[in-house]
Amino acid sequence: MKDIIKNSLKAIKIRLEIYRMGRSKIYYDTFVSSKLAAIDAKAKRPYRYDIINFLAKQINAQNYLEIGVRNPADNFNLINCVNKFSVDPGVEFELNPVDFQMTSDDFFQKLNEDALKIKSSIKFDVIFIDGLHLAEQVEKDIFNAMQFLSEEGFIVLHDCNPPTEFHARENFEFNFTPAGGAWNGTTWKAFVKARKMYHSCCIDTDWGVGIVSKKERPLLNILGSNENNFFEYNDFSLKRQEQLNLISFDIFTKSFQS
Ligand SMILES: C[S@@+](CC[C@H](N)C(=O)[O-])C[C@H]1O[C@@H](n2cnc3c(N)ncnc32)[C@H](O)[C@@H]1O
Repeated sequence: MKDIIKNSLKAIKIRLEIYRMGRSKIYYDTFVSSKLAAIDAKAKRPYRYDIINFLAKQINAQNYLEIGVRNPADNFNLINCVNKFSVDPGVEFELNPVDFQMTSDDFFQKLNEDALKIKSSIKFDVIFIDGLHLAEQVEKDIFNAMQFLSEEGFIVLHDCNPPTEFHARENFEFNFTPAGGAWNGTTWKAFVKARKMYHSCCIDTDWGVGIVSKKERPLLNILGSNENNFFEYNDFSLKRQEQLNLISFDIFTKSFQS
């Protein structure tokens, strides 16, 4: 009952927003369906850190790397792993209490050159990519992360399943859309492209938590190379189940039990 009242109030709020804007019916329908899709996406559980902790536990992870941290209380501090390393240039969180205050590109270049306090021979068991959410950058992050991933390891990517094209906009600053300030960027494009090469899936929660594995594993598959070559959002949206290999966390965890 409480939920019904809560959802009805939300729906009224959305409609009031539209009336105030005085837009056409097409705009109205798009706005309402996008807002509702966003409410659904936001309500999904578990969170990214539950998934990362599950993966870390399965492979007895020793080294965890997080690219893009913002406030560590939201994710980094909640990860259970022996050694944890963090990278962030400090764009969104002034305090920026990370190990490496730099961009992911600088981090990987310096790591390659042995110019950091950790050695270039290091292998990470889980690497969480959650930095700049633009496809070109995410593609570079995936490529670089692969060079430092242990054989059993996983790359995890946040924001792979934008609920609407407005969440998947390129420009973070433009928030006069049904997505408001919520932004998944174009990470999905880099993930779908990576899926043409790597065993992978996306857990259907917390805006889409992509998982890439170096080795073959149950449920993780490789996407056919001719799928959505031009990375069109509409094509992705209609076939996201297949293009992301979208699965529930429940089904994913069961695949580790056998
Ligand atoms: C979405 S937030 C990270 C959220 C965090 N991982 C979490 O789960 O709560 C994105 C972060 O990426 C950082 N960032 C932006 N550009 C980056 C880059 N080129 N390399 C690494 N991090 C970057 C921003 O400073 C910001 O703190």
